[in-house]
Amino acid sequence: MNAFQFVNPTRIVFGEGAAAQIGELVRPFGSRVLLVYGSGSIKRSGLYDRTLETLVQAGVTVHELAGVEPNPRLTTVNRGIALCREHEIEFILAVGGGSVIDAAKAIAAGVKYDGDVWDFFVGKASVQGALPLGTILTLAATGSEMNGSGVITHWEEKLKRGFGSIHVYPRFSILDPTLTYTVPRDHTVNGIVDIMSHVFEQYFSLTENTPLQERLCESVLQTVIENADPVLANPEDPAARGNLMWCGTVALNGGFISVGMQNDWATHMIEHEVSAVYDIPHGAGLAVLFPNWMSYVYSSRVSRFVQYAERVWGIDRAGRTDEEVAVAGIEATRDFFTRIGAPSRLADFGIGEEHLDRMADEAVRYGAIGSFKKLEQADVRRILELSL
Ligand code: NZQ
Ligand code: ZN
Repeated sequence: MNAFQFVNPTRIVFGEGAAAQIGELVRPFGSRVLLVYGSGSIKRSGLYDRTLETLVQAGVTVHELAGVEPNPRLTTVNRGIALCREHEIEFILAVGGGSVIDAAKAIAAGVKYDGDVWDFFVGKASVQGALPLGTILTLAATGSEMNGSGVITHWEEKLKRGFGSIHVYPRFSILDPTLTYTVPRDHTVNGIVDIMSHVFEQYFSLTENTPLQERLCESVLQTVIENADPVLANPEDPAARGNLMWCGTVALNGGFISVGMQNDWATHMIEHEVSAVYDIPHGAGLAVLFPNWMSYVYSSRVSRFVQYAERVWGIDRAGRTDEEVAVAGIEATRDFFTRIGAPSRLADFGIGEEHLDRMADEAVRYGAIGSFKKLEQADVRRILELSL
């Protein structure tokens, strides 16, 4: 295990009806709030009305940034920054999934910065401060509700980039599983894949002597797998929705499950390049790429893949070589994604060979990616080819 520090300042308020506390949670931060949300799911579910009513009762003045896109765009972030400055906003409340929360984080940091907020995403500046923000989560997937990361798309340049800072951890996040009942099946599946992928990025590591971290990762994966079928069979299953939601938060909350481990993140970087060009849902892209990344890299540490196959998928090693067990675990992953209805080929999105070089070039723009196996341009291109 490597040396590490861990801090996570986000207060989690979990439970059915928790959003009723929003007024008292927001009020200590000020009375002028920017409410950030997406294309309308919160209006259809009634959450918008309830949230507004509770905030107004608490004496809060609400301004709004509506229409945050899935794969949120820089132009929207800039609109939010302008609104914050115009109305002297004191607190940002994000109500939605990862896209809404990420946009809110970028706005929070951008307001406190004199230059172009995109500087944070291309390494030209680091965040020195941010407006406080909080979230009401409506989709279990990214972990953005309890981490300091955000991912934004510069659509005109076809770039999707992340930034991170302790300053943009939400001050609180409300996790009410019943708010995810209305998530459509495809986004529920994308969320399941995203949560599992976050664990993969941390679990497939070369760091030695991390038994607790490995078991934490395996537990999250098993819990997601156990709850996938119940959620898909009954989208209003409170226990399964709740377990999935908590798995999403635990999987990516500042690295708690993998403290002291070197992480990989190559597949996420490749997926972001695919989303940047084709605007596909993040979890769907990961479902296609991850099994192919696994096949490409597993020989870097076969024993971790054997452990994965045995402990997560219950694969019996009797009579098989390590390599066969490792491959069986990878195939179990692929089969699971297919069984729950995730896409398995880039062709499912009409993606062909046209932009493979561009995506591979951008993925390694700042050098080789990944740590389980370092990937150069040609490696990334090969994984993309395998995914076509
Ligand atoms: O826009 P609305 O109307 O809200 O609809 C959304 C959107 O169409 C809908 N939705 C959300 N909650 C719903 C709902 N529909 C019905 N009922 C509900 N309760 O779902 C669609 C997808 O939402 P989105 O927020 O885009 O999904 P997700 O949470 O998967 O976020 C994806 C974004 O997060 C980034 C991804 O790259 C992508 O841009 N990521 C952020 C990370 C982070 N901050 O730590 C890490 C991740 O790896 C990821 O990269
Ligand atoms: Zn992800």
